[in-house]
Amino acid sequence: MRAAPGWIRRERLARALSQAALARLTGLPQRALSQWERDLRRPDPASAALIRAAFRRLDADDARPRAKARWRLLHGGGAEAAPRGRIERAAAEAFVRDLDPPDGHRRALAQAPRGGPTALSLFSGCGGLTAGFAWAGFDVVGHVEIEAAARAVHLRNFPDCRALGTDIRQVTAEDLATLGPVDVVFGGPPCQGFSLTGKRRVDDPRNLLWREFLRVVDILRPAVFVMENVRLMASMRTPAGGLVIDEIAGAFAALGYRLAMGGLDAADFSVAQSRRRWFVIGARDGAPGLPTAPGGPPRPLRAAIGDLAPLEAGEADPRDPLHVAVRHPRHVVEMLRDVPEGMSAHDHPDPALRPRSGYNTTYKRLRWDAPAATVATTFAMISGSSNVHPQATRALTIREAARCQSFPDDFVFFGTLGRVRAMIGNAVPPLLALAVARHVRGMVPRVRLERTTYRLQGGCSTS
Ligand SMILES: C[S@@+](CC[C@H](N)C(=O)[O-])C[C@H]1O[C@@H](n2cnc3c(N)ncnc32)[C@H](O)[C@@H]1O
Repeated sequence: MRAAPGWIRRERLARALSQAALARLTGLPQRALSQWERDLRRPDPASAALIRAAFRRLDADDARPRAKARWRLLHGGGAEAAPRGRIERAAAEAFVRDLDPPDGHRRALAQAPRGGPTALSLFSGCGGLTAGFAWAGFDVVGHVEIEAAARAVHLRNFPDCRALGTDIRQVTAEDLATLGPVDVVFGGPPCQGFSLTGKRRVDDPRNLLWREFLRVVDILRPAVFVMENVRLMASMRTPAGGLVIDEIAGAFAALGYRLAMGGLDAADFSVAQSRRRWFVIGARDGAPGLPTAPGGPPRPLRAAIGDLAPLEAGEADPRDPLHVAVRHPRHVVEMLRDVPEGMSAHDHPDPALRPRSGYNTTYKRLRWDAPAATVATTFAMISGSSNVHPQATRALTIREAARCQSFPDDFVFFGTLGRVRAMIGNAVPPLLALAVARHVRGMVPRVRLERTTYRLQGGCSTS
């Protein structure tokens, strides 16, 4: 049924809401709201569902009025708490249907175009990057991963992809030759040496693993390579004082690759999570560039996890072994119980209910109407990051973290809970990987064609 023109403005004014407040509640850009209100454009069904859901939540206002009132009282009425109403299943499901391109891992694999370019996944982890490349139609012929648990999960989800040794430092040219021609090499060398969550030592030996990536590229000479890392890699220094990224750029340029480098935020690519990663894309033919974001509103957390049971700490969903909420100490639950969305227990107006140490990026409640904060490997530790459920008083479950990373529910995870959390927290969100993979896919056939023509003309092969 088509809604009457001007309905958004009418409904908003009826609730004495500003346009900015509605934008905040729905996670939709105010500019778009303004255009829809003036009937210059019509909202897409998912956005309309979000707006209706926000109005319904305001009306129902079943947002634990006592807790809210107490917080306001303590804050002197200053805290602008987003409503914490009942989860809007219909809105969340509509959003998932509209924005989630791979409707399940197996289905995405089955629907991927056949006969695509070949690829090798280095430092593959459980396969976040691999998923994006496989969904984009790449034939991922091999992977290298040192951790047995991650290798097992990779094998389960990509049964046709062969594990090529374990430690990349031991993988030889002969091993690589068994793969046949490889069009694209992709991977994310470990980032702990570069990351703020690690110690960030310039002499951390893990900072040198990118050279193994370079060695493999030098041997295979793929048409394209994609190297991913944390954003801080761009500012990390070598023991000699230069920038690591300059060293990387110089080394790949010396192999004849033209490079594009820059940060991409998963939230710009339909992932319900802000996660900035640094990408280096190298191409032997032409300027590679970086993928451009499709635009549109960011995907709010509600769209990713709003249909899951809102468990409290210590509860489990009997239908899903990965949807289990860890138990937290009573005093921590007490500190966080009344904290509104988007705020930290460190902001608590009652000093007795503030954590003793740390920053206000920890013990922090996520918001339904915005993408989640970066999912770290420590997402189950309530003190570890911004990972408190927007409604329940507990850290995210594995299922919720996997959804925030855009792993479909039929992507199989197994192993100890700690290992599974690490795999998920380390992964590139598959939807971001899909955007990158689609971007580089277009570069490969051109090079292949030229290679073939060159050979037909009697030139020496460049592969
Ligand atoms: C940042 S994670 C990669 C995550 C992956 N890109 C994804 O999307 O799921 C880095 C991975 O490199 C692996 N690794 C570390 N050292 C390695 C080595 N010497 N050889 C092979 N893999 C290694 C780690 O076990 C870890 O799984």
